[in-house]
Amino acid sequence: MTEPFTMRTLAAHNAADYNQFLRQGVLAHPDTLRISASDIERAPFKTDYGIERSTFLAYDSESGAWLGVVTVEREAGREKRRHIAWVLRMYVTHPIRIQYIGRALLRAAIARAREWNEVAKLNLTVAAHNAAALALYRSEGFQIFSEETDAFRDPTPRTELSLSLRL
Ligand SMILES: CC(C)(COP(=O)(O)OP(=O)(O)OC[C@H]1O[C@@H](n2cnc3c(N)ncnc32)[C@H](O)[C@@H]1OP(=O)(O)O)[C@@H](O)C(=O)NCCC(=O)NCCS
Repeated sequence: MTEPFTMRTLAAHNAADYNQFLRQGVLAHPDTLRISASDIERAPFKTDYGIERSTFLAYDSESGAWLGVVTVEREAGREKRRHIAWVLRMYVTHPIRIQYIGRALLRAAIARAREWNEVAKLNLTVAAHNAAALALYRSEGFQIFSEETDAFRDPTPRTELSLSLRL
């Protein structure tokens, strides 16, 4: 039997489709995704696959429709933080209910970070009220290490948690 969804990594030429898909997500979930549609318009994300960053896509195995994305990115700007990578922009849509897309994306991101030499931990942030995402991250071993009140406004002030997984 075919799996209901398939995973692959995106390449540079997928950037326009990726940004359009993410835009739908940020419009549908303004309270849990801190990026806004105008942020994306102003500075679209890249989807190049490299030694420092990968974006994973889950798509419907039959129709090819995009179902979810996540990016994992190693810190590049500071030499002393090269042991840290981040899980970014996790978004799953459910035109029909397919279970465990988010978990599969997260596991792909973790596996990718483990391939990077000397990356020792994987960080992420999540809105404190986002029970589904928080349960997912904790069930994969992420632990809360800080809390920021009024971290973003949609316009309601939202508290954000920072979580980390030792690799
Ligand atoms: C959070 C999100 C990524 C989860 O993805 P998903 O594909 O729906 O979740 P999965 O089917 O993989 O579920 C994995 C686990 O997440 C948790 N979970 C998922 N949906 C849940 C819900 N409605 N309530 C509570 N826990 C939930 C559970 O722990 C679940 O495991 P279990 O069913 O074995 O208990 C997805 O709902 C989403 O994209 N939400 C909107 C955008 C967003 O908030 N992104 C996260 C930003 S940090």
